[in-house]
Amino acid sequence: MIRVDLRSDTVSHPSPEMRKAMAEAEVGDDVYGDDPTVNRLQDLAAEKLGKEAGLFVSSGTQGNLVAMLAHCQRGDAVALGELSHIYNSEAGGTSVLGGIAMVVLPNEKSGAIPADAIRAAGAPGDYHKSPVTVFAFENTQNNAGGTAITPDQTAVMVEAATDLGLKVHMDGARIFNASVALNLDPKELTEGVDSITFCLSKGLACPIGSVLVGSKGFIEEADRWRKMLGGGMRQVGIVAAAGVVALNSMIDRMAEDHANARKLAEGLAEYPEVEIDLHAVQTNIVRFSVPSGVGMPFAAAMYEEGVYMNPGDTSLRLVPHYGIDSEDIDFTLLAVQKAMAAATS
Ligand SMILES: Cc1ncc(COP(=O)(O)O)c(C=O)c1O
Repeated sequence: MIRVDLRSDTVSHPSPEMRKAMAEAEVGDDVYGDDPTVNRLQDLAAEKLGKEAGLFVSSGTQGNLVAMLAHCQRGDAVALGELSHIYNSEAGGTSVLGGIAMVVLPNEKSGAIPADAIRAAGAPGDYHKSPVTVFAFENTQNNAGGTAITPDQTAVMVEAATDLGLKVHMDGARIFNASVALNLDPKELTEGVDSITFCLSKGLACPIGSVLVGSKGFIEEADRWRKMLGGGMRQVGIVAAAGVVALNSMIDRMAEDHANARKLAEGLAEYPEVEIDLHAVQTNIVRFSVPSGVGMPFAAAMYEEGVYMNPGDTSLRLVPHYGIDSEDIDFTLLAVQKAMAAATS
């Protein structure tokens, strides 16, 4: 039987307070702008991230896509990191549906993108190329290990992009993990950034949803694109109610997930077969590698021991979240001991 599911923070379940708020939510038709709970969530999200307005969307993918569609014309390009979710894991929607090219830039080990790469990509004047009109980066940077990008790193990237007249979008799916890890007001992480998508359905434990924030004009344009994508929902305050609870009471508790991730990472680091950069374990994501041929039997043996993780040949990831406590991490480390022995014998 599976006791600990560490495949992702997206597997977290809503809290009892969320379920109660959902059952009791005041609702209206959100396509008419009539849903008071959705409006409360959007305002709260915008306020927390220091922007004028917010738009409730079905997912992080939809939030990023709507942002790209609202910022760009067909034939434009977005410059973004090689590790980014938009480039790697959103089915190419930005290009397929938006006619927007993607110019892929290197990510540093920290997850940030070097300013000179942004300046080179965004330099105007060559009509052979799609004009780059947007720069997008991620915070936390999932594929770099859930690294938290600091305000200083952000300022350097924003300066390079805005010097060239580019709009700046942040895929902040886990922006509140970053603010908790850095012990900063989230607004300090979004300065100079035009739009941010963040997810309610990951570490914040909501069942559904993300919010896109930005200026009033940008959000009006994004709303039109959301409608076009079939993302206009009706009495969706039922779902947004969980988001209001999350923003009011689930952010600070993510420090617990970060502590659990650290404990897990330090336990894993004791195995000679495991390669792990402990410095990159800054939030709730633990990435590590094992020799080729070990990952698949290791994940299968972990499953047998009651721990669910995504399989992979060499590159593996564990993600603590709401519902996983310190004892579950002890249980997981015991499972690692047995599974590693089984996978390497
Ligand atoms: C960094 C990042 N951005 C965007 C998304 C997309 O979110 P969703 O699964 O809600 O579409 C994810 C999902 O894992 C993510 O990790």
